[in-house]
Amino acid sequence: MKNYIETLDELELRELMDTQLKIQVDSSWPHEAVYLEEHGLSDARTVLDIGTGNAYLLCRLAERHPTKRFVGIESSDVLAELARKEVAKRGLSNVEIVEASCPIDGFERGFDFAFSRLAIYSTPDREAVIAWARERLRDGGKLIVLDVDHGYIWSWPHSEAWQHLFDAMEVEMAPKGADRRIGHKLPHMLLSAGFKEVKLDVKAWYSSFDMPPEKFRLLLCSMALLIHKVMPERFTKEDMDRFVEFSEKVAEDGTTTAYCPFLIASGVAR
Ligand SMILES: C[S@@+](CC[C@H](N)C(=O)[O-])C[C@H]1O[C@@H](n2cnc3c(N)ncnc32)[C@H](O)[C@@H]1O
Repeated sequence: MKNYIETLDELELRELMDTQLKIQVDSSWPHEAVYLEEHGLSDARTVLDIGTGNAYLLCRLAERHPTKRFVGIESSDVLAELARKEVAKRGLSNVEIVEASCPIDGFERGFDFAFSRLAIYSTPDREAVIAWARERLRDGGKLIVLDVDHGYIWSWPHSEAWQHLFDAMEVEMAPKGADRRIGHKLPHMLLSAGFKEVKLDVKAWYSSFDMPPEKFRLLLCSMALLIHKVMPERFTKEDMDRFVEFSEKVAEDGTTTAYCPFLIASGVAR
């Protein structure tokens, strides 16, 4: 049985994570929605989201498209609960949350469109998940994977404070099977899983020059706070303060540019 303090700590982390996931979606909104719509979502009737987290993006998409059916899969019970709350809060009848880890045996087939955002990097059996996603699509259905690649992150002039956040995440998460350099590997993974018409796009949606300064500051500072909370020894309070100072400088004076792209791979199931 957890003591009171342990429960409080968990609650705090859960709320931080919920807030951070929402900020991440709002930061690149509506670019991502429009991108998904232009690349298959608009023509789909049924949509699958693999690793939906708190389903904040899924719910915002479902509100834009009330006649489509959306299914979000989430392996963490904590996040799945937040997802169900988000669906209930918005009164959405076109969203279903499934608490399970992909690949799932016997799961329904015939989706028109599937996407996975910032989730494939974190799942150790990512090849199996992508192959499974292809089997869930109807003939001609599309999968879009939006993910990170730390090999593409930079600031100019170079900043150790900026680089250290991404290095800390990469080193801390690697033993748990995460690959924070997954982006450039995605086209090969989709081809290996049998997808056709594979494409790769790179979008600067999280970069300092592609969003208003106040949004950039909020996104980066909240990310630093969460990472410090999750890995306080690897990303210390001093690291966080240096990072926040850097983010504010970038946002305010415009003399430094910070680049943090999305890599977006897509493929068609045939
Ligand atoms: C960083 S979060 C991103 C959530 C959401 N897609 C977003 O963009 O806001 C990644 C989520 O994917 C989930 N996830 C990772 N691997 C999964 C798997 N194999 N099956 C289901 N969920 C998975 C994690 O539990 C986590 O909640």
